Amino acid sequence: MSIVINIEHAKKAYGNNVVIKDLSLQVKPGEFFTLLGPSGCGKTTLLRMIAGFNSIEGGTIKFDEKVINDLPPHMRNVGMVFQNYAIFPNMTARENIAFGLKEHKVKGPELSRRVNDILKMVQIEELADRMPSNMSGGQQQRIALARAIVIDPDVLLFDEPLSNLDAKLRVEMRSVIRHLQQKAGITTVYVTHDQEEALAVSDRIAVMNNGDIQQVDEPIKIYRKPRNLFVATFMGQTNIIDVDVNGQDIRLDNTDVKLHFDRIKKDNTVKRGKMVVRPNDFYFADEGLEGVVSERIFFGTITTYFISTPVGELVITRDVNEPMKETGEKVHLGIPTAVVNIFEADGNNMSIMEDAG
Ligand SMILES: Nc1ncnc2c1ncn2[C@@H]1O[C@H](COP(=O)(O)OP(=O)(O)O)[C@@H](O)[C@H]1O
Ligand SMILES: [Mg+2]
Repeated sequence: MSIVINIEHAKKAYGNNVVIKDLSLQVKPGEFFTLLGPSGCGKTTLLRMIAGFNSIEGGTIKFDEKVINDLPPHMRNVGMVFQNYAIFPNMTARENIAFGLKEHKVKGPELSRRVNDILKMVQIEELADRMPSNMSGGQQQRIALARAIVIDPDVLLFDEPLSNLDAKLRVEMRSVIRHLQQKAGITTVYVTHDQEEALAVSDRIAVMNNGDIQQVDEPIKIYRKPRNLFVATFMGQTNIIDVDVNGQDIRLDNTDVKLHFDRIKKDNTVKRGKMVVRPNDFYFADEGLEGVVSERIFFGTITTYFISTPVGELVITRDVNEPMKETGEKVHLGIPTAVVNIFEADGNNMSIMEDAG
């Protein structure tokens, strides 16, 4: 059975430096749960607390009902994969994978069977007797992955496991990890600073900043309904447009473009706001926000345009199958209010009321 990780009011300090003040979250059984945030926000710190490599200065961490605050790492039954592989250079793939199992007193035919099964699962059977120095980064990371899973852990932890790989391998390896995790059904916490990676692999994502959790949600909600400006801007490229707010009506600065948002509370008292529009949400229309194409970049499947407008330079992306606009051409931009969010000056999303009147 897969286990639940329950973190309640966890606190972490390095000396006098409190890095995590009061953090709570629950990872569900078998879930692929990602900690996403900028460098230095405390992702590794939290992961190491779950693994038992970091002390905890307040609160509790539980695996199911069991408090594990003071349980040493080797008694937590956790499999870990790091950025720098951490495999033994003087052992073959097979020996690397067998090592952890031997520590768990597995031997004989069962040892061979389990090592062979996992070699097959991570698709490096034909490399089983090769030394890591004769393997690519992706292959070495497959060994690390195999070694973490073969011990049949209660929890799998990943700390930026793909950061050292090139772009193409990253995409390939993240599917490998995702498929293995789903097959094994092991409760997983995955750390990354890469938004796209987080969206692609996770059941749920916790967006972190400054040791705090900003939002925990499914990928599509993190993307479409960010709780605050930090989540909205961290999650992918965005345009931020200053607006006047008058009840549910907003007006874009320096223009007479007005939009109505029935997702904003009617009786709100906010006067100024920020509208966040993703590049692929703008569309070319017959009317709307006026602008001029200042630059066009062709990327194959999409084309990126920079458009000079009264609200500043905006970036928009359109599908290659659409008629292209020319540099210098005058255009109008449509804004789909159904998917665009409006934020208060202090950053809270004022347009995600589930049932605004
Ligand atoms: N061993 C340590 N001693 C003191 N400070 C640390 C230590 N490890 C991390 N920190 C500090 O804790 C904060 C969070 O770091 P970390 O968890 O590594 O962030 P992330 O993994 O999100 O990049 C940073 O300010 C970092 O400098
Ligand atoms: Mg880190």
